[in-house]
Amino acid sequence: MTRSHWREYIFDRLEVLVQSGAALELLKNSKKRERLDKEMENQRDLRKLADTALGKHPADLVVKNGVLMDVYTGRMVPGRSVAMVDEWIAYVGPDAEYTIGPETDVIDAEGRVICPGYIDAHTHLGNYFDFSEFLSYAIPSGVTSVLTEMDSYSFALGVEGVKAFLEQIEFCPVRIYVAAPPMISLSPVTESLRITKGQLAELLNHPLVIGLGESYWQGAILTSDSRVLDLMAETRKMRKSIQGHAAGAFDRKLAAYAATGVESCHEAISTEDVLNRLEMGLYAMIREGDIRCDLEIILPLKGKVDFRRIILVTDGTNPGLLLKKGYLQDVVQKAVDLGIAPMDAVRMVTLNPAEHLGLDHLIGGVAPGRSGDLLLLEDLKNMKPEMVISRGRLVAEKGHMAILVPDAAIPKRLLNTVNAEPISLAGLTLHKSLTNETGQVRTLDIQPGGLVAREGLGVPKVSGEHLLADPEKDLLKIVFMERISGRGEAFVGFVQGWGQKRGAVATSTCWDAGGIVGIGENDKDLADAVNRVINIQGGAALVVEGRLEAEISFRVGGYVSELKMPELAVELDNFQKIMALQGVIHDNALLSLSVLTGAAIPFIRMTEKGYYRFRENDFVGLIP
Ligand SMILES: [Fe+2]
Repeated sequence: MTRSHWREYIFDRLEVLVQSGAALELLKNSKKRERLDKEMENQRDLRKLADTALGKHPADLVVKNGVLMDVYTGRMVPGRSVAMVDEWIAYVGPDAEYTIGPETDVIDAEGRVICPGYIDAHTHLGNYFDFSEFLSYAIPSGVTSVLTEMDSYSFALGVEGVKAFLEQIEFCPVRIYVAAPPMISLSPVTESLRITKGQLAELLNHPLVIGLGESYWQGAILTSDSRVLDLMAETRKMRKSIQGHAAGAFDRKLAAYAATGVESCHEAISTEDVLNRLEMGLYAMIREGDIRCDLEIILPLKGKVDFRRIILVTDGTNPGLLLKKGYLQDVVQKAVDLGIAPMDAVRMVTLNPAEHLGLDHLIGGVAPGRSGDLLLLEDLKNMKPEMVISRGRLVAEKGHMAILVPDAAIPKRLLNTVNAEPISLAGLTLHKSLTNETGQVRTLDIQPGGLVAREGLGVPKVSGEHLLADPEKDLLKIVFMERISGRGEAFVGFVQGWGQKRGAVATSTCWDAGGIVGIGENDKDLADAVNRVINIQGGAALVVEGRLEAEISFRVGGYVSELKMPELAVELDNFQKIMALQGVIHDNALLSLSVLTGAAIPFIRMTEKGYYRFRENDFVGLIP
């Protein structure tokens, strides 16, 4: 890294820290914006870039003697050098010696592969870990661009949550892009937080917001209102991209969805799904992360289908996985190990996503005018980079960061987002009249795998006037309480397929909803667990016989921890082990709990108005 780069980087970070002073806020905002615009193509110093390529201005960084992985032509080109100035590539060709001045940093690739920086085109950064922590572990794996959804913070603060995240990522050693959240939710109280068309337009004007986030097909085309379609139209009007989510859709429903102008789907779970999506003109994103690992489904297409419309994504990761496997390099490695040609594998995390996002003039390949994002690979068998250069400077070497990623300042408004009074025992009490004539109640039955749930029936214990859980039969109480309105609206139901024999667990990390979801074997522990999450302003708590057995703070928006990655991984592992000790049967139980409010996972979910059933599209209570 050149001295000027360092100076600018440190200045950027200082400016972020000083921002909380607020006196010069207006001035700073316009300065910040000016600087952000500068990062985009329009405000680049084109004269300097051209002059560098012409030899009239020295480069800041030169990488010489490499074998260029040319994703544009699909060839490996030996004897190539790359010259960068500021954070942009000025020259790619046989000899960059002429661009080297006294202050130019020079890296000799010594015949190693010069590969474009990897792009994760679909992930969720507002979960588990702070994004600065994420960068420290993701960058050494070769990630130089990320497109993240910002669903979580939007369910805490609406548009303000997205803006808070944008503030955090403004100055960053890699490129982080954000998709504006469509905020499709089953929880009616969310309506008050929904991002309006006007707010969306404002977000889309931000240089780092590249379009509309994953717009679940059911919430877009099967609803009676046109709210999401209007958001899509607004996005298209502003020539930005729309991320799709077509889980389970095929034929006419998939066509109806594709007709809305959505451009991708990351929900293919079979080879046929991949083909269906490609045929409909969609980019097919294949997931390899903590939700699913599906890379194998494209293997039967090898040699038969052009992979240029296929993209590999994580759709999110977790601390344990990040520490154990790294990030995207592990996905590319798996593709190569499975026999996919390295060029195809690399294109699926470089040029393909860049084209899909309308960013291929900026990222996705090593060429003049593109961001200085490149990796040095030992050879085409080993996809873990020896060096990672991002935005024109060396950021990681041999699996370790070469720069320090400063902690991101956490906007204060993200630290106080649980707006609910404690729940009382009376609030969890269910009267015995809430059964049918044979004593049955409607239940939410979690299926093996811990994500899907089906509607079921159960017979709770009756004590006096009240219905109680029956852990012997794996019939437990479940509660969802919203944390948005301040009224603490809640629905209490029953759940099967969880396994817990003692105590209760609750978390604020609810998918697609701002609330707290809890499961308990007795009302007292369940109230304690929910109230602990309220007390700590977001997190997960496990209470057994009145004792707090485990907890994790997710104080940032109710979704993100302030812990360092290794500590957080240990805490999550511990939490999981203690849950298992109480009998919980799911391997990733905190995730299973979080998805109970998800707006795109069949067949029944929790809301503050009752169970929501997808097929019937209705809210129902306990009486079957
Ligand atoms: Fe996703």
